[in-house]
Formats: sequence, structure tokens, C-alpha cells
Amino acid sequence: MTYQAPTSPDLHVADEPLELAGKHILLCLTGGIACYKAAELCRALIKAGATVQVVMTEAAEQFITAVTFQALSGRPVYSNQWDKREANNMAHINLSRAADAILIAPCSADFIAKLVQGRADDLLSLMCLARPLGSTPLLIAPAMNREMYAHPATQRNLAQLQADGATVLGVGTGFQACGETGDGRMLEPEQLLEDVIAFFAPKLLLGQRVVVTAGPTYEAIDPVRGITNLSSGKMGFAIARAAHEAGAQVTLIAGPVSLSTPRGVDRIDVKSAENMLQAVINKAHEATIFIATAAVADWRVAAPSDRKLKKDGTGSTPQLVFEENPDILATVASSPAALQGRLFCVGFAAESHDLAAHAQAKRLRKNVPLLVGNIGPAAFGKDHNALLLVDAAGTTELPRASKRSLARALVNEIARRCPSPAQ
Ligand code: C5P
Repeated sequence: MTYQAPTSPDLHVADEPLELAGKHILLCLTGGIACYKAAELCRALIKAGATVQVVMTEAAEQFITAVTFQALSGRPVYSNQWDKREANNMAHINLSRAADAILIAPCSADFIAKLVQGRADDLLSLMCLARPLGSTPLLIAPAMNREMYAHPATQRNLAQLQADGATVLGVGTGFQACGETGDGRMLEPEQLLEDVIAFFAPKLLLGQRVVVTAGPTYEAIDPVRGITNLSSGKMGFAIARAAHEAGAQVTLIAGPVSLSTPRGVDRIDVKSAENMLQAVINKAHEATIFIATAAVADWRVAAPSDRKLKKDGTGSTPQLVFEENPDILATVASSPAALQGRLFCVGFAAESHDLAAHAQAKRLRKNVPLLVGNIGPAAFGKDHNALLLVDAAGTTELPRASKRSLARALVNEIARRCPSPAQ
């Protein structure tokens, strides 16, 4: 008998392009203890497919060596404006013309002030001033002590930098190397990576306000037990992330899941279908797009016990009586905003067979312009899926891919059907 390697359905997906494939990033470090995090960021950018050229100021070299970054990026580091490796001796021009973006991480308070003043007395400041404004974006990740960050001069400078066209990526909060606690830590490498990927995404949903439901709901039986389902929330979270990357303002209303919130997305945690409905109603009136990916329980226990149900030793079992949960999607789809075309509603259907027919029937029953069908058992909890989009014009297949890729493809499809108010 020949040996057959075990197979996983999740492996049957063509290799997907890396998220930063083809992007050349100038990763620039200024003086600050957060330089140690930039090493991990360099690796993360490269793992995502970018090529990385590192530029360091003299102060940055006090915190970490250029050798580390040469090894990680596979390229010699630049730090001197008189670098003889450049035939024309114009490193500031050559580097800034070749880049898809300049990312300064960490960016010190002093360097921010320098950028605001347009000074150019070292390679990095020279390079930033010489960058073509229209084609080489500048992203900065501030890192400094909380008092320095909160100081009106720094806040004024950050606002001015933004007004001058730079993208300020924000800061983290927490324990700082100086021993104080507050705002001003550099964002973590994985957060910065997420922000850089989002930066490059086409802003197809600019001006849209999107509400997404995700995950299962939990319907209590008593204070310690309940009924739920195997939805992981991965699809809904991926859609929320993709919508944010596309420029939308996103609220994610999540049932009990153990997933981290995508960057830039507002998250509201709920438990039961009734909680979810309430949260959706509170948010839907200001939304322009509603995407219902949650696997909402069809029924809840009519009278959950406020005390734990106990075995009484006689073998008798509790008799649970159920009542139907509200249909959140149908409720929103029948609101005046949806009926008058101001709120575009997208539903999901998890089926086990005859996907196209069931999805089309569900679309009409729920009265939504777009319904996304998938095969439930192949989707729940998995990292990959395949989708079938059903609308009045017919069906469109989104073949098997990661939920991340599918989410982006779905956002493109939604944007095509739902013109952005900002465009
Ligand atoms: O009827 P069914 O549960 O198959 O419909 C699935 C779609 O309806 C999904 O978009 C789901 O989020 C939504 N739904 C809902 N409220 C319910 C049941 C389903 O919003 N109570």
C-alpha cells in the first residue's frame, strides 16, 4: 500500500501574494529606546513581501547597530549624507526616489520638530525634505516619554506634520522604558505592519460608515451554561479589517470570540442575539453599509434560570422551552434607511447543499441586495473559505482563498455596488 500524506482542506489553496509584495520601504530610525522594536518591524515588513532599505540617524546608532539591520534587511544601512557608495553622492535623492514609502519608526520628538521646520542637516531629514510629495508618502511612528508626547509643542508639531501631508500612525499606551506609564510608546511591530498594509489599500469605501456583525451569539440556559455555535468570527473580523483598510469608519459588533480587534476598528462586544440587535440598532442609523456575518442563534431559552440548574439525583432532566430570536438582518433591511437606499445591507448564508438556490431564496426573503453564501461546515472556524455572491443580477463565485483575501474581494464587490459618498 502506498503512503498518502494526510491532507487538510485548508492547504488546497493556491499561494496568495504577500501583502506588501512589490513595495520598497525606507525604514528609518531616529534616537529612542524603541529602536529595539524596529528590528522586529524590519523582519515583519520583509516577511510581508516588501524590500526594506534602512536609514539611521546618528542618535539611532546609539541604541542599536547598523549591523543588525544590514543582516535583517540584506542591504547595507545608510546614515551619512556624504555616503561614497552613491555615484552621484546624492543618497537623499536616490533613496527617496526609489521608495514607495518612508516609514520613520521610531520617530523622536526632536525629529518631529525637525520635520516641521523643514530642516535638512543630516541624511534622514534631507531625504524627507527632498522626497517627492506626490509619490513618496511619509509615515511616522512617534516614540517618546509620555510628558514629551503630551507637551503642547509635540502635539502642535504632530498636527502640523499631518497638515503637511504626513501620516501619523499614533502611539501605544502603557509602561515606558523610563519607568512612567502613559501614552507615547511606539506601536508594536505587528500593529505598524497592519497600518502600513492598510495605508497602501485602495480607499474604495472612503466616507462610508460600516457596521459588521461577527461570531456566534450565546444564549444563556442558567448563569453558567448556554447555547452557542462554532462560528469563530474570523470572516467578520477579516471583513471589518478590509473595510477599514478601504477607508471606511467601521464598527464591529462581536459575539463571544477570541480574536483581536483589527486596527482602527471600533468594537462592541455582545453576548446574546438580543444584545446584538440592540447594539446594531444603536449604530445602524448612522451607517451606510450593514454586513451581517454573525451566526445568530435562531432560538433562545424562553426563561433562563437565574440559578445554576442542579442534578437532583433522580435522573430527571431540565425541560428547556425555546422562543425565536429576532432576525437582526431582516430588521435592519426593513428599516426606512435600507428601504430608501441609504443603507446597503449584505447578508450571509451558511448552507450545507444547493448553495445558489438557497442563497437566492434567502436574499429575497430577507430583502437584501447582496447575499453571500458559503458551505457552513467548510467555513466555520477555518482560515479559508469559498464564497458565492448572489444579487439581483445573478451569482459571482469567489473561489477558495484565505478569509483575509475573500474579505478584500468582498469589500471590492460591495464598493462596486455601493458608490462611496466621498467620491
Ligand atoms: O436565516 P439565516 O440564519 O440562515 O440567515 C443568515 C443571515 O441572517 C446572516 O447574515 C445572519 O447574520 C443573519 N441573521 C440575523 N439574525 C438572526 C439570524 C440570522 O441577523 N436572528
